[in-house]
Amino acid sequence: MSDALLSLTDVVKYFPVQTGHLRRSRDMVHAVDGVSFEVRRGETLGLVGETGCGKSTLARCISRLFELTSGQIIFDGRDISRLRPRQLRPLRREMQMIFQDPYGSLNPKRRVGSIIGDPFAIHGTASGAERKRRVQEAMELVGLNPEHYNRFPSEFSGGQRQRIGVARALALRPKLIICDEPVSALDVSIQAQIINLLSDLQDQLDLTYVFIAHDLSVVRHVSDRVALMYLGKVVEIAPAEELYQHPRHPYANALLSAVPIPDPIAAAKRERIVLVGDVPSPVHPPSGCNFHPRCPKAQDRCVVEEPSLLPRFDDDELHATACHFPVADGEDLSEARPAIGVEHRIVEPDTAGAPTGLGVSVAHGSPGSPESPEPVERRRS
Ligand SMILES: Nc1ncnc2c1ncn2[C@@H]1O[C@H](COP(=O)(O)OP(=O)(O)OP(=O)(O)O)[C@@H](O)[C@H]1O
Ligand code: SF4
Ligand SMILES: [Mg+2]
Repeated sequence: MSDALLSLTDVVKYFPVQTGHLRRSRDMVHAVDGVSFEVRRGETLGLVGETGCGKSTLARCISRLFELTSGQIIFDGRDISRLRPRQLRPLRREMQMIFQDPYGSLNPKRRVGSIIGDPFAIHGTASGAERKRRVQEAMELVGLNPEHYNRFPSEFSGGQRQRIGVARALALRPKLIICDEPVSALDVSIQAQIINLLSDLQDQLDLTYVFIAHDLSVVRHVSDRVALMYLGKVVEIAPAEELYQHPRHPYANALLSAVPIPDPIAAAKRERIVLVGDVPSPVHPPSGCNFHPRCPKAQDRCVVEEPSLLPRFDDDELHATACHFPVADGEDLSEARPAIGVEHRIVEPDTAGAPTGLGVSVAHGSPGSPESPEPVERRRS
């Protein structure tokens, strides 16, 4: 892909697990486990996945708030993977983060003007009246009243506080903004305002975004492309509409089957794929394809061989999926049953307390609707 602002190759971040009396352990949390992708200038890459799959850790690796365990990150033509703290300073101007919690990320004891002015102070780019002018300009840009310069964060609503976070991130006119769930903590009515603001600013200022969310429906309308993560890895990446229309990974199909659709007739016809079991521990991720214990299509090969992230069927090169047995257009996953031994599946107790080797349950219609039968299949190998 040409004109990449950001390029990740095999980025890995493991955290040591501290257990026992001496807080020593050889175990590692595999938070990010070999992620590669590019982000083009001016585009928005949506990064989606369940809680704990490594989205924020990856964001902090990209912005080099974390050291990488291994891998390479090229930003604007420069390898930033191993830069030391002092060498990172210029990078901080060009890459900024917006965080999920507009309450927690603003110091309640400081005035808004001084919070937004921080980047100018830290980088020594403006002081005195010039700094105030530029802060007020940033406030205006994000739809805040510049006359509220001397107010405290508590005097603003949730949406306004997130605008303060956006103004702070924009102050130095960065090239890349990593938005880590910027609307998750906001009321639905306010979410759209912030998303629209980010989108307008992107056009105005030629920004590139990595936009993190755990909800596929949030990223759909803001992203040019979407990368889906599962347990530290990207399992599918594609242009947004392509992913929604032709999801190839069984996990993508399961998530999309749960996204609400406004048309009640289409919703009633749709089969919801309910994955059984929680995401496995990232300390001991499953072998082969790490989704295999929950996958309705798992076969023996999946247990031993990790699938590469590649175009499948006749998908073009922008649509890559990490799956040995991807889902074809029109394929009904409710008919799929894992063909792996019970020891490799998520095992849950049945009502009598005996274990069953259930790989996945499939419910039809919306959950809880009168038409919804109980999960239809329980199988032993
Ligand atoms: N500083 C840390 N030390 C040890 N483990 C960590 C640390 N930060 C994150 N982890 C672990 O790494 C994994 C990925 O966490 P991360 O916060 O990146 O997930 P996430 O996808 O952002 O989740 P969420 O949607 O809940 O924000 C989790 O298992 C988490 O417990
Ligand atoms: S079919 Fe196999 S490779 Fe594909 S997601 Fe399922 S377990 Fe992984
Ligand atoms: Mg997170």
